[in-house]
Amino acid sequence: MDWGMQNRMSQLIQADGHCFFLPIDHGYFQGPTSCLEKPGETIAPLLPYCDAIFVTRGVLRAAVDPAGSKPIILRVSGGTSVVGKDLANESITTSIEEIIRLNAAAVGISIFVGSDYERESLTNLSGLVNECENFGIPVMAVTAVGKELEKRDARYLGLSSRIAAELGARVVKTYWCKDFDKVVCGCPVPVVMAGGPKCETELEVMEFVYDGMQNGAIGINLGRNVWQNPHPVAMIRALRSIIHENYTAKEAWDLFNSLKK
Ligand code: 5RP
Repeated sequence: MDWGMQNRMSQLIQADGHCFFLPIDHGYFQGPTSCLEKPGETIAPLLPYCDAIFVTRGVLRAAVDPAGSKPIILRVSGGTSVVGKDLANESITTSIEEIIRLNAAAVGISIFVGSDYERESLTNLSGLVNECENFGIPVMAVTAVGKELEKRDARYLGLSSRIAAELGARVVKTYWCKDFDKVVCGCPVPVVMAGGPKCETELEVMEFVYDGMQNGAIGINLGRNVWQNPHPVAMIRALRSIIHENYTAKEAWDLFNSLKK
């Protein structure tokens, strides 16, 4: 691995081999998402506790301070919306020049395996890898399911994750699921867990994150379950304790309860 690629990967994945990415890219297809209407205000108290943020160029420029910012994973796919015909019909939205200009530590792109736009999203990924590898920029593939949340099982996510890695993704972001070890075992690059819609309880979040880490994930990319929680700082600190301090789900939940007071 060349120095630039290694340097960027080490900005994202910390010395313990783990990572906590904070995504605030949701507006790119769903508009002003609840609790993310003013992304700069949402992330200000959370930034000290994450390792990188996942964001589009628009919100980056409008709401993220370039001085002392966390490493940036730039969301570079899009072009569809929740009110449109098909979320899977994405294109690459950001040029390589812009990715370099914004000093991205990595880029993120969704793939939609099994959808009507499977081929387009997969060739978007491979084309992006071709461009980004020239400049030592890692590509994170997101195994997206659009509105079909029921697709999130080990067989489907394992298939999607493996394909993403085969096409050159340096990191794969996928959903946690039962038998998560099967997803990780079949994927030759590091796997990060996405959160999905807000869970009913905080303990539920701690439990799936803990389970995923025990089963081989290197970290999380969790948004709504952090910043839609009424106590987002307590939530991010508790989750961080699982990722970087080996806390169990119960210990992290106790920490959340003590911090939220
Ligand atoms: C949207 C994304 C988000 O980054 C991803 O869904 C993680 O956020 P959340 O934890 O809120 O699901 O890729 O397509």
